[in-house]
Amino acid sequence: MTKGWTKSDWRAKPRVQMPDYPDPAALAEVESRLAKYPPLVFAGEARRLKKALGQVAEGRAFLLQGGDCAESFAEFSADNIRDTFRVMLQMAVVLTYGAKVPVVKIGRMAGQFAKPRSAPTETLGGVELPSYRGDIINGFDFTADARVPDPARMLQAYTQAAATLNLLRAFSTGGFADIHRVHSWTLGFAEDDKAERYRALSSRISDALDFMNAAGVNASTAHDLGTVDYYTSHEALLLEYEEALCRIDSTTGLPVAGSGHMIWIGDRTRQPDGAHVEFCRGVQNPIGLKCGPSLSVSDLKTLIERLNPENEAGRLTLIARFGAGKVGDHLPKLIRAVEEEGARVVWTCDAMHGNTIKSASGYKTRPFESVLREVREFFDIHNAEGTIPGGVHFEMTGRDVTECTGGVRAVTDEDLSDRYHTACDPRLNASQSLELAFLVAEELSNRREIQRSAAL
Ligand code: PEP
Ligand code: CO
Repeated sequence: MTKGWTKSDWRAKPRVQMPDYPDPAALAEVESRLAKYPPLVFAGEARRLKKALGQVAEGRAFLLQGGDCAESFAEFSADNIRDTFRVMLQMAVVLTYGAKVPVVKIGRMAGQFAKPRSAPTETLGGVELPSYRGDIINGFDFTADARVPDPARMLQAYTQAAATLNLLRAFSTGGFADIHRVHSWTLGFAEDDKAERYRALSSRISDALDFMNAAGVNASTAHDLGTVDYYTSHEALLLEYEEALCRIDSTTGLPVAGSGHMIWIGDRTRQPDGAHVEFCRGVQNPIGLKCGPSLSVSDLKTLIERLNPENEAGRLTLIARFGAGKVGDHLPKLIRAVEEEGARVVWTCDAMHGNTIKSASGYKTRPFESVLREVREFFDIHNAEGTIPGGVHFEMTGRDVTECTGGVRAVTDEDLSDRYHTACDPRLNASQSLELAFLVAEELSNRREIQRSAAL
């Protein structure tokens, strides 16, 4: 696949959304330091995730991908990481219950720092400055100084990603994620309807575990009950960082991105002949591709050929993000193109990025109703096409923020200013995330019903 490819080839291709560093010597110095640092993830882990995603492509597992729009240096804390990890475990339990298949869990974490922007500059009170591009590139403060791209930020991002991964690995295997603790994950829930539904579900799971224990299956005989596989992912936008962390897998002799288990190509950087596709095609990791309304059938076919020439299941995840009410205009023709090519892909639904609006109070927000509607449209279309809706992709946090409107504990336009903390796009809060998981689980069990009656 990577014959003749080198990790620097992207430099000869047209690039978009990447910063122009004013001090090339400082940039080169950071790149050479990073290139000597250990990779954050290992090739064997990326291969294991690819295999798990291969199961998703075949409908034998379901994908849950979620986390911050942009990780930030300021919001970095153990509590934040724990809360997002915990709400993803809760969602996964609910989804497993609906789908009756394993849930592959991937955080937008430990590397999700660089952001594509819709405009190169931002104007505030008559002052125009370069846009904020994520903490790995420049600063959020609205000052000329903060907005200068600073390569040293890559080193801080690397350090934060390493510490985040360290904690995630401890949570995944050190007892926190033991399924027997399913009840204790409700701690931190407000007393509402969803907490009650989640508790009822966790009681049923506990009963099943008691039964399995009695039948001789327990954590010491079934290692999987005490640990969880949790993977990391981010948009591979800042290619200097990606190149510096690219390593050769000693088992296969092939290149692998060491910055995260899965990397994806954004909707604004997926030009088939561009720098981002060039870099991603050469690494062995699972690759995501954002598919928005402007993606043509012919570009999709070219991208599939370029990114997954060997048609390996689990290699390519197509992340549909059209916006509620628009899925029907775009998804069916793309699904048919994939089917025509016989391409083995995972289809997942990012129900966030097509649903961003400006609220009356001036905040960027996303109505919960639109997020849910896009997920439903995604499922309906796959059901009609006879293809597999493999997963969901959310921007979410385990904290009680007020960034998206709606949900059972309705966040209103006026509430948005209360706890609006995101460094970029609005995220679902813990309660909205869990509510969505229940609703997606219902879609999944309806789908099982449809399939069962079709099989009769
Ligand atoms: C994102 O996932 O944060 C993002 C910017 O998405 P997209 O490329 O789909 O707009
Ligand atoms: Co976003």
